[in-house]
Amino acid sequence: MCGIIGITGTSVVTDRLVDGLKRLEYRGYDSSGVAILDDRVIKRERAEGKIKMLEARLGAHPIDGQTGIAHTRWATHGVPNETNAHPHLSGRVCVVHNGIIENFLDIRQELSHHEFVSETDTEVIAHLVDEALSAGLPPIDAFSQSLKKLKGAYALGLIIDGEDNRIFCARAGSPLAIGVGENEMYLGSDALALAQLTSNLIYLEEGDWAVLTPESYEIFDVNDKAVTRPVTIISGGPAMAEKGNYRHFMLKEIYEQPETITRTLENYIDEFKHAPNLPHELDFTDIDRIILVACGTASYAGMVAKYWFEQIAGIPVDVDIASEFRYRQPVLSQKALFIAISQSGETADTLAALRYCKNNGVKTAALVNVMTSTMAREADIALPINAGPEIGVASTKAFTSQLTALAAITLGAAVSKGVLSAARQEALIKSLIKMPRQVKDALELDGAIEAMAFDFSKAKNAFYLGRGSQVPIAFEGALKLKEISYIHAEGYAAGELKHGPIALIEDGTPVVVLAPFDALFEKTISNLQEVVSRGASIILITDVAGAQHIGDMVKNIIIMPTAHDFTAPIITTIAVQLLAYHSAVHLGTDVDQPRNLAKSVTVE
Ligand code: F6R
Repeated sequence: MCGIIGITGTSVVTDRLVDGLKRLEYRGYDSSGVAILDDRVIKRERAEGKIKMLEARLGAHPIDGQTGIAHTRWATHGVPNETNAHPHLSGRVCVVHNGIIENFLDIRQELSHHEFVSETDTEVIAHLVDEALSAGLPPIDAFSQSLKKLKGAYALGLIIDGEDNRIFCARAGSPLAIGVGENEMYLGSDALALAQLTSNLIYLEEGDWAVLTPESYEIFDVNDKAVTRPVTIISGGPAMAEKGNYRHFMLKEIYEQPETITRTLENYIDEFKHAPNLPHELDFTDIDRIILVACGTASYAGMVAKYWFEQIAGIPVDVDIASEFRYRQPVLSQKALFIAISQSGETADTLAALRYCKNNGVKTAALVNVMTSTMAREADIALPINAGPEIGVASTKAFTSQLTALAAITLGAAVSKGVLSAARQEALIKSLIKMPRQVKDALELDGAIEAMAFDFSKAKNAFYLGRGSQVPIAFEGALKLKEISYIHAEGYAAGELKHGPIALIEDGTPVVVLAPFDALFEKTISNLQEVVSRGASIILITDVAGAQHIGDMVKNIIIMPTAHDFTAPIITTIAVQLLAYHSAVHLGTDVDQPRNLAKSVTVE
């Protein structure tokens, strides 16, 4: 959510800043801007819209220098326009910021003799530091003292007119990394931003602030004490976020799933012993309750896992939406295990839930894709999903890897509780090992699903129905469709529809029914009949046995590879991803960067 990049060095920076912004565009893309120190003079260009608008602006009004900061915005305070775009300038000070300054109105009042030009919370930071400079404080003190006045969340970078090449930066609540180069230092919201520039990153810790020059960096903690932080070597290099021959990152990421699921399995399953292989700290022996907390797609992974943990390991599970968790004052037990599920590992509400549990003495784990993220660093146990960088704003491969990891963790929990017979363990492990092949086969249905998406994409509203562990996949299918095609869609437990929402079914309303041939198949088909008799137009996602059973009752059938009940939700996910993707492509939306969204939601 909002992307920041900065470079201070000995050669010009504008092109590289813009390149970094493009890599960060998935974090927000409603406006962007660059500010440069050119011979100690600040020059700035900003533009509303995508980064290409900024590039056009820079083409017409070139600016360059050896130090600069840049920003791509996801609006919180103030509409997305040029005036509200970062960097914000006051007097000698120019700032980029990710997060929310909660006391910005108080600061604006305190500085009422200043002229504020934007509607943003960020602008107060520039005014605060400029006020302190005008009062005669040296830049370092002006910066550090201003930080003390800020309440809320921030990752920020700042340059000062009239100064040598230097970037001031700070983090509290929002992630920020320093990149170490040769005669050059960098600042970035994440490793992707800096992938082209360096592999040596230093992740600032809560409350840290720093001063970067081309040759050096100095880091201070929240009490202004000089500190050292470890340098992390990032692997992956510049290619880590390329689209290859795919039209969209989302499609590439959908197609990566046989491989990403394999990588996840390798981490949690011993394929030779046919046994789960969990990190030793993840010990379920004394755990009597699991709390799964996440947002959006990741929360649906948690909902599927509830079925698994309860049915297979016999451990009761609470699944909470992160934005509600800490405010409802949940009853916590010392024998509970909290697991945050998050692709980015930075989602503000999920992180706050993790901290809430940690502060209340609950053992915490974080199931994340980004192992250098704040959640991975703060949780007692960091659990990787190894899906690789996910750039498409709509989550796909991270979701199936979250599910895969949670499936394997369930088996590990069941083994440590002594409730998994050898025969059942063998059957369930085998079903996991078969998954990459089944996902590959499911991807062969791409063409057929694309054809179905043509009519489907003409709908204004759609429903997704499922039972059992397919219910969260119905939610996920509906969310995927909404966010990238802008078609209104709702997922429902198939048995729940008649308690109200069925009133919305009319002639031609599309209803996607997820019904592999399992113990609940007949019941789901009864619910399908209820909507058919009210005019619904069905897309049935089932398997070979389900298709045989249904005969020619339904015209549009997607026949998925036959999977074990345990892994079936992961397999049906492929179909709902492709259906949403092709609907969006038919409609011509911006699939990888849908309107109003951002990949990493670092504000509440
Ligand atoms: C939907 C989507 C979001 C994320 C949610 C949590 O496609 O991507 O719903 O799942 O914002 O993000 P993470 O997993 O990074 O915590």
